Amino acid sequence: MGVKLGILGLGTVGTGTVQLLLDGVGRHPLLQEIEIYRVGVRSLDKLRAVKLTEDVLTTDLDSIVTDPQVDIVVEVMGGLEPARSLILKAIKAKKHVVTANKAAIARYGDEIFTEASQYGVQIMLEAAVGGGIPVIQPLKQSLSVNRIHAVTGIVNGTTNYILTRMQTEGSSFSNVLADAQRLGYAEADSTTDVDGLDAADKIAILASIAFGGRINLEDVYCEGIRHISKTDIAYAEKLGFVIKLLAIAKRVTPLTPLSVRVHPTLVPQAHPLASINGVNNAILIEGEPIGQVMFFGPGAGAGPTASAITSDILNIVAALKTSTLTTPNPLLTFKHQDFCQIAPMAELVTRFYARFLTKDQPRVIGKLGTCFGNHGVSLESVVQTGFHEELAEIVVVTHDVREGDFRKALTEISTLEAIDSIPSLLRVI
Ligand code: HSE
Repeated sequence: MGVKLGILGLGTVGTGTVQLLLDGVGRHPLLQEIEIYRVGVRSLDKLRAVKLTEDVLTTDLDSIVTDPQVDIVVEVMGGLEPARSLILKAIKAKKHVVTANKAAIARYGDEIFTEASQYGVQIMLEAAVGGGIPVIQPLKQSLSVNRIHAVTGIVNGTTNYILTRMQTEGSSFSNVLADAQRLGYAEADSTTDVDGLDAADKIAILASIAFGGRINLEDVYCEGIRHISKTDIAYAEKLGFVIKLLAIAKRVTPLTPLSVRVHPTLVPQAHPLASINGVNNAILIEGEPIGQVMFFGPGAGAGPTASAITSDILNIVAALKTSTLTTPNPLLTFKHQDFCQIAPMAELVTRFYARFLTKDQPRVIGKLGTCFGNHGVSLESVVQTGFHEELAEIVVVTHDVREGDFRKALTEISTLEAIDSIPSLLRVI
C-alpha cells in the first residue's frame, strides 16, 4: 500500500514537487510507493503546469489535514496563516508534516514542535533554509556529535545577487534593486529579503538545530543592506574585503549565551564565503572535532526546493516502511524544549569598519585615535584616500572590540567639532 500525501499549495514549489514525484525514472525506487492523494489549491479553474485528476485537487484544505487516509501533509503554500493553523491541525490528526515555510517555523516553531512531540509525529523542514542545499539533515544527523561553535551563512539569494552586482558593476543599491525587480530576481515588495528578515528566519532555524534550543525570533538582531553604498563596497575592496549579508549564530563556549544576528559584513577576500556570488547560498559550519564544513548551492527555485522537500518525504516514507516511526527517530525529531539564551549586541566582540567625513584640518586622525583609545578600541588600519566635496574621508578598521565599547567611542567622536558625520558602520568577520 502506498504512502498518501496531502499537499497544501500548488504554486512554484508545489508544482516543482509534484513534477518531481511524478517523474520517478532514474530516481530512488521509494518514490514509487508515494501517492499524490490530495492537493489543496485556492482555485480549481486555474490552468496548471501539472496534470492532476479532479478528485485529487480540492479547495478544502481543512479536509486534507484531517483526512484519515493522508499519511504525510506537505505544506508548500507559504505565509503565516492559514499555514500555521493547518500544520497544527495536521499534527493533531497525527500526520507527519513536511514544510518549506521558514517564516511559520521561525515564528511558531515553539508551538509546532511542542504539539508534534505530544502527538508523536515528525516535522521535516529541509527546504526552509538554503533551498536545495542539504543543511538541516546534515546538522541533525551527520554533524550531530559535533560541538558546534558557529553557523555562518549567506542564506538569502536576492541580497547576495544585489551585493554581487553592486560589487562587480560599481552600481548603487537602488539601481541594482530596480533592475533585479525588473529581471525577477527580487520581489516587487523586497522588504523581507532586503531588510534581512528572511535571513533572520533562516538563521533562527539553523541556530535552533545547531545549538539544541529554541530561538525567540525577536532576539535575533537584524540589519539589511539598504544602507550599503558603492563607496563602502569600493573601500572594502581596497582593504581586501567583500561585503556580504551574513546570518551568524555563534557561541564562544557551550556555557556562554548565543549570538544570533543578520547584518552586512566585511568578509576577507580569502574567506570561504567571500566567493559565493549571485543568487547562490552557502552555509559554513564550524565545530569540534569537524573543523570547518561548507554547504553550497542553489538557495531557491522550484527544482532545488522540490529536491529538499522530496528528500524529507522519502525519509518519512522509509521510516514508515520500517515502522521506526512508532518510536520517533531521535535523529529526525526536534527534542529540545528550552529557549537558548541570546547575548545582547552590546556584548558582541567583533571587528568594525567605520567611515567618517571630517573637516580637513590638522590632528583629526589624532583626535579619533584618542577617543577610540579612551574606550579600549584598538585600530587595525586607518586610511584617508579621498575627499567628499570639501570633507576628508577617513576609514578605520578596528581589532576585535566589545560592540558596546565601540559605540561609546563613536558617541564621543560624534561630539568632536571636526567630525561632520559617520555615514557607515559595518561589522567585519
Ligand atoms: N527570498 C528568498 C531568497 C527565497 O532570496 O533567498 C528563498 O527562501
